[in-house]
Amino acid sequence: MKQNKTVKVGLIGAGAIGSFHGESIARRVPGAQLAAIADPAAEAAQRLADRLHCASATTDVQQIITDPDIDAVIIAAPARFHSELIVMAAEAGKAVFCEKPMALTIEEADRAIAAARAAKVPLQVGFNRRYDNAWAEAQRSIVAGELGTPQLLRSLTRDPELADPARVPPWAIFLETLIHDFDTLRFFNPGSEVIEVYAIADALVRPDFKSRGLLDTALVSLRFDNGAMACAEANFQAAYGYDVRGEVFGSRGMVTMGDVRRSNAAYFGANGINSPTTQLNIDLFHDAYTAQLVEFVATVRSGEVQGPSGEAARAALALALACIRSVTEARPVRLAEVL
Ligand SMILES: NC(=O)c1ccc[n+]([C@@H]2O[C@H](COP(=O)([O-])OP(=O)(O)OC[C@H]3O[C@@H](n4cnc5c(N)ncnc54)[C@H](O)[C@@H]3O)[C@@H](O)[C@H]2O)c1
Repeated sequence: MKQNKTVKVGLIGAGAIGSFHGESIARRVPGAQLAAIADPAAEAAQRLADRLHCASATTDVQQIITDPDIDAVIIAAPARFHSELIVMAAEAGKAVFCEKPMALTIEEADRAIAAARAAKVPLQVGFNRRYDNAWAEAQRSIVAGELGTPQLLRSLTRDPELADPARVPPWAIFLETLIHDFDTLRFFNPGSEVIEVYAIADALVRPDFKSRGLLDTALVSLRFDNGAMACAEANFQAAYGYDVRGEVFGSRGMVTMGDVRRSNAAYFGANGINSPTTQLNIDLFHDAYTAQLVEFVATVRSGEVQGPSGEAARAALALALACIRSVTEARPVRLAEVL
């Protein structure tokens, strides 16, 4: 594709994150055009199309997949549809950006990766944290050797509110949330792979939903093949707002990142000092979400994936699956057992 050609993007899924990605394509990403929106919920597709002045809204995903004018798709449907949508889009020759998790099983992940490879289309996955300035800078310093050898790594996610526990998919704490942390830990220890995990998880926020399989709090220890040890943790209800942090401790120093404060403004009053926090992921990672799509558009033009690939998404998925087995069987699980 010519470097200066406008990349026409079809959005599949107009829910919470799909709407934000659609808005990014329409308003914030140079060289891209939001050409069509598909969502089985007709109203969701139409409402977003109206708001973003997008010419086409449909309930039929095939309309986007088979449209010869569309160069690329953004898949923001629920996770259980991801791998099938990737296969369909790739077979139709579309470049693919897919939200995490890319798939729910290793077999599905392999099918998606194979379809993109066979069709020679790029496949990028939505691990947006890599695009946050602090995370990107930390990774650059690790790769440059400034921290020496990584020895201890940590990554945590605390979501601000568990709004409707009935809508949370099974094992979401690992498959939808900690999967970000798993990608981050791998990003910070490049060239190394996790060999073993031990995970514990419980329903501490909503114990009444435990019998329905909803676990809302988890802690994972991970061991890399270069000896580094890591820790990941998540909780679905942080009273004070969105909290995502990371840390890498190496033989020559340490880097930390993440700040729950919305900005460094501090309000001084009779009750002390107050700093507002972020309540929405699209506020916390606003620029990172945009940057990953800027890179995706460059990837559509060059055909070369620079960001998180299908293979990276498969590796993070394997960690989530190993954690699920670890919790289920109450024992450490070697990655080889789930691959
Ligand atoms: N990277 C991030 O930080 C981040 C943040 C939020 C969500 N996500 C991921 O994005 C995905 C969607 O999450 P969400 O919060 O936007 O969910 P959502 O429920 O708000 O939206 C999903 C939308 O997809 C539509 N849909 C259902 N089946 C579909 C299909 N077969 N084809 C097309 N559309 C379909 C639904 O009608 C709905 O409008 C999940 O995999 C989630 O993990 C990622």
